[in-house]
Amino acid sequence: MCGIVGYIGFREAFPVIIKGLQRLEYRGYDSAGVALMNGAMTIYKKAGKVSDLLNYIDGKPTNGTAGMGHTRWATHGAPNDKNAHPHTSNNGRLSIIHNGIIENYGPLKEELIKRGHEFHSDTDTEVLIHLIEDIQQKTGVSLEEAVRMALHEVIGAYAIVILSQDNPDELIAARKGSPMVIGVGEGEFFIASDATPIVEYTKNVIFLNDNELAIVHRDKLVVKTIENIEQTPYIQELEMKLEMIEKGGYEHFMLKEIYEQPRSIYDSMRGRIIAKDGFISLSGLNEYEEKFKNAERILIVACGTSWHAGLVAEYLIEDFARIPVEVEYASEFRYRNPIITEKDIVIAISQSGETADTLAAIELAKSKGATIFGICNVVGSSIPRVSHAGAYTHAGPEIGVASTKAFTAQVTILSLVALSLAQKKGTVSKTRLVELLTELEAIPGKVELALQSNEQIQVIADRFKDSRNALYLGRGYNFPVALEGALKLKEISYIHAEGYPAAEMKHGPIALIDEQMPVVVIATKGAILEKIISNIQEVKARQGVIIAIVTKGDTEVCKMADYVIEIPDTEEALVPLLATIPLQLLSYHIAIMRGCNVDQPRNLAKSVTVE
Ligand code: F6R
Repeated sequence: MCGIVGYIGFREAFPVIIKGLQRLEYRGYDSAGVALMNGAMTIYKKAGKVSDLLNYIDGKPTNGTAGMGHTRWATHGAPNDKNAHPHTSNNGRLSIIHNGIIENYGPLKEELIKRGHEFHSDTDTEVLIHLIEDIQQKTGVSLEEAVRMALHEVIGAYAIVILSQDNPDELIAARKGSPMVIGVGEGEFFIASDATPIVEYTKNVIFLNDNELAIVHRDKLVVKTIENIEQTPYIQELEMKLEMIEKGGYEHFMLKEIYEQPRSIYDSMRGRIIAKDGFISLSGLNEYEEKFKNAERILIVACGTSWHAGLVAEYLIEDFARIPVEVEYASEFRYRNPIITEKDIVIAISQSGETADTLAAIELAKSKGATIFGICNVVGSSIPRVSHAGAYTHAGPEIGVASTKAFTAQVTILSLVALSLAQKKGTVSKTRLVELLTELEAIPGKVELALQSNEQIQVIADRFKDSRNALYLGRGYNFPVALEGALKLKEISYIHAEGYPAAEMKHGPIALIDEQMPVVVIATKGAILEKIISNIQEVKARQGVIIAIVTKGDTEVCKMADYVIEIPDTEEALVPLLATIPLQLLSYHIAIMRGCNVDQPRNLAKSVTVE
C-alpha cells in the first residue's frame, strides 16, 4: 500500500517520477505528490490520482535531477491534500515519503509538540520527519545519522525516502517491513516500491533488506544497516520486461491479465513437470522432502483471493497426498494463539509477497519452529525471503487490483505441490499421476477455449448489471471457485455478492432468493453433480435466476438453468482452473457496464502492507 519513487541522476526527475507513480498507482490512489530538488526543494501534492496531480502541476516549474514521489492509500488521516505525501519538517528543509505505518506516532507526536513542533497533517509519517529534524537540531549529527537514530525510536513498518534542502545531491532511503527496490544505472539511481518504475531504465536492481539504509548520490550508493554496519549490496538482474507491465492493446490490465492465463498457467508449470514420465520437480519441496512426508498436517495461511487458492489446495492435498490440511485467514491465525509445532508445514500464499498479515502469520509460525513454504508471484518480495523454501508462480506482474492470473497460477503450483507430495508418499499410482499431469499440461489450451465464451458472457453481464445482490454456489472443488467469483464481482462492480457451499444455502441464504436474485452455480461434471442439481432445483422453486457454469456437452443442468456457460471437460480436481475464467469475465463486464474503474476499484490497493 502506497507507492514510492525516488530518482537521482542526470535526467529530469519529474517525468521519471510521474511515470513511476502511474505504474505504482495500483498500490493506492487516494492522493499523490512529488518533491523536486533544483537548488531549492519544490513540493506539489494533491488528493486524488496521479492525473489530478498532473492537472494541478500543469504549467508550474518541475525542473531538477533529483526528487521523489508518492501515491497514497490512506491509513492515518483522510485522503485529502494536507495528508498527501511528501511531508516536511518544522523548518521545511527536510521532506519524506513513506509506505507503511509508524505505530508509536502518538506519543512521539505529543513529545514533539511539547518541544515546539507544529504539525500540518493527521498522518503518522509527518511525525517521523519532525523527529529526524529534532534529533539533528539537538545533536548536530549528519542527516544520515539522524535518520538512523530516529529509526531506532519508531515502531512499525516503513519504506521511506528523505530529501534535504541542505544535502541537495543525496537521497536517503530505508526499509523495514515494506518493500523497496533500488535500480542501479550509470550515474543514476532509482528507488521504488517495486521494479515496475525502474525496468525501462535499468535491469540491475538491489532489493533492500529490512533494517537497511541506503545513502544515494548520483555516482555512489552506500548501503548500511541501521546499526551503521556497511553492507555489500547484491545486485541482481530483473527478468521483467517492459511489455509485461503495459496494457498491450487491452483496455484494462484486468482484461489483459485474464487473457494472459493460458500463458501464465503454462509458465507456472514450465520446467517443473514431464507428464508422460510422471515427473514433477519443485526444488523447494524436494529440499524439505522428509519434513513434508512426515508432516502430520499442513497449515495454509493467506488472505483474500490467495486464501481461496489455499482452499482449493486443501481439497487437492487431502485428496491426493492424504495429509490433513487447515486453511487459515492469516489475519485471524496470527492473533488467536494457534497450536503450532515443529512438525508443522506452513504454506503461505501471496501474489505480492508483501501482505502484512501473511508475513506476521509466517513470523509466528516460524517462531514456533514450523517449516515455511512460500508461494508468491513477486520475485524478491518479503515472503519468499522469510520462507525456508518455496516456489514462485511466475505469472508475471499482476497490475489490475483484482487478482486473476495470480489465482490460477497459485492453483497450478498447489496442484503440483499436491501431486508431488502424493508421488513422494506413494498415495497415487504412477498411471494416475501420468493422467493427472497430462491433463494439467492440457489446461492452458482449455483456458483458451473457456475464454471464447467472452461475447456470450457480455450478454449475460448486460442482463445482470443492475442487480443489487448475487449468490455464487459451488460444492467440493467448486466451493472456493464460488467464493472467488463472488469476491471478484463485489470488489470491482460494488454489487453485494456471497459465495456459499451450495448445500449450505438451505440453512439461511435461501431466504434471500426471489426473482430478483441472480444465482451463479458452478455445476460441472463430477461426483456430486446430482447433488448440485438438487440445489439448483431448490433455487428454481423460489423463482431464483440461474446462471450455470457447466461442462461442455452437459445435458441436464442446461434444462434448468436460465443462462449456461460451458467450459471444457477436465479432471474434477483441475476444474477450478477453468471454472474461474468465466466468473472473472462476468465480473469484468458487469463492472465496465456499471462504469466502474476495474483496475483501481475504490478503497482497495493491490499490496496490503498494513494489517
Ligand atoms: C482480490 C485480491 C485480494 C488479495 C489479497 C492478498 O482480488 O487481490 O483479496 O488476494 O489482498 O494479497 P496477496 O496475494 O498479495 O497476499
